[in-house]
Amino acid sequence: MGSEALPHPAPRRAREQQYAEVRARIAGLLDGEDDWTAAMATVACELHHAFSAWHWTGFYRAVTDELLVIGPYQGGHGCLRIPFSAGVCGAAARERATQLVPDVHAFPGHIACSSSTLSEIVVPVLRPDGSVLAVLDVDSDHPAAFDGLDQEHLEAICAELGARFAAERP
Ligand code: SME
Repeated sequence: MGSEALPHPAPRRAREQQYAEVRARIAGLLDGEDDWTAAMATVACELHHAFSAWHWTGFYRAVTDELLVIGPYQGGHGCLRIPFSAGVCGAAARERATQLVPDVHAFPGHIACSSSTLSEIVVPVLRPDGSVLAVLDVDSDHPAAFDGLDQEHLEAICAELGARFAAERP
């Protein structure tokens, strides 16, 4: 971690700058790195500590085409296994699409690993062939903490990971 966590809420320009800095830091830390676990751990750590509103940041790995198993994360303990049929993470994996959830209590089947979670974003990590490698899950205890800016940057990070680690298999 090389910078202070951005307070919440923050002006868009400050959020853009924070994303630029954290993405540059991730790129530097992962330069030449070919280990998938190390990459997930680094991305989870750097993202988590960049935004003060994020209380859980981590990956779930697609170990079959129906099951997600927890990977590297930051925050309180997360549930270990999530079928593609369940939760916000399962929806992201099943639909291969980002789930931007301003109010988790309005999301049918939301899985509450923490009772304090109020909003969430889950981004699929897709290989170039479209298959699911993992999902990146971020939770906040603030309502509507995520928007299109977060989706844009997190999708870009996940697309880079999906391309770089496409050969990873369960
Ligand atoms: N909220 C997620 C479960 C993962 S815990 O929040 C870390 C879901 O509904 O899939």
